[in-house]
Amino acid sequence: MSATIDLEAVGLDRGGHLLIQHALEALPIGGELHVLGRDPALHVHLGAWARREGHSTKDGDILIRGSASSARWTGAERAGGYAPSEVVNKPSATWGVAARGALVEAGGPVVHFDIEEKDLVWADLAPRLYAQAAASQWDPQAAVDWDAAFELPPEIEAAVVQVMTYLVENEQVALIVPARFLSRIHPHFREVLQVLAVQAADEARHMDVFARRAALKGGPLGVSGAGGRASLATLLQEPDFALASFLLSVLGEGTFLSLLSFLEVHAPDPVSRRITHLARQDESRHVAFGMAHLEHQAALDGTLRPRLRSAIERRHDVLMETVGLNQEVFDSLVLLAAGSWQPEAIARGYAAVEELQHAMDEGRQRRLTRLGFPPAEAAALSALHTRNFM
Ligand SMILES: [Fe+2]
Ligand SMILES: [Fe+2]
Repeated sequence: MSATIDLEAVGLDRGGHLLIQHALEALPIGGELHVLGRDPALHVHLGAWARREGHSTKDGDILIRGSASSARWTGAERAGGYAPSEVVNKPSATWGVAARGALVEAGGPVVHFDIEEKDLVWADLAPRLYAQAAASQWDPQAAVDWDAAFELPPEIEAAVVQVMTYLVENEQVALIVPARFLSRIHPHFREVLQVLAVQAADEARHMDVFARRAALKGGPLGVSGAGGRASLATLLQEPDFALASFLLSVLGEGTFLSLLSFLEVHAPDPVSRRITHLARQDESRHVAFGMAHLEHQAALDGTLRPRLRSAIERRHDVLMETVGLNQEVFDSLVLLAAGSWQPEAIARGYAAVEELQHAMDEGRQRRLTRLGFPPAEAAALSALHTRNFM
């Protein structure tokens, strides 16, 4: 079989090879393509190009299709499919960073990721959560009226600054933990990477706005307690994705939902109310992903629940000797809910913080129950959660 192609004035240095390739595709191996054209270097370039691509030439301007280009794709493999429903359980290490659904040429590098099993990270909710998260990104500069006029009594301002200082510390860990896992998960589970990447971006904004509010009135930042940092250090040390998302997202960020709601109600200035509101919306997605993944994994792996239980117990034992939440944060929360130093107001503030801790505990028990723990066990495990909230 033979054919003819006229490149006209286009040489192989100006894209002519695409025209030739396109024409060759219609020919069988061994088929002949007569190449015409006016480019003076055409014959020289054609010979060199043909050798490189595994074709041969005859009489200078006839190409004979070789088998190399089709041989290149023998042994090629589809890396699953584009749709989330086509995610495979164990993507091949030879797929490496190929797009899910791509035809992967054989012979590439073998790339291993720490986490290459679907059920260790997946949640069917991931694609929807990612879309929702991407649509809900806000601009810290535009979403908050940083110039809003307000003046607080110095002690109330100091209480806000203390709480903000504490929040920044916690947000930093909430960024580092998912960011670390992000680089350890096989990119075949694309939507999980996307969810974690946006989660990290959310935390970056939270760090930003809480730090800005802390410094808004020019005062120095508050204190960082050793107990709080000890609690956060245990989150950084957890190497298992399920256990880390359990401790961070379900228990820690779950508990933070109550804290942020509390601050949204009791913060004495519009900036603090606004930023805790914005952060809370993001946090509810982080909790939702943690829950969705753990529900997925728990349904398939009967050993997960006992491992979750011992993760809480282990962490509790490690933190036993620490104070947990630093007293300055606790006292600041009381003062914010009180609004003044009137004894009756302080008593009201104290009761509000007790109520907050009760709401946090209830939330944890509800989530633990949803993960399949019997109510009595859920209550016992919730009580072992770190006093640092996160
Ligand atoms: Fe956050
Ligand atoms: Fe978060």
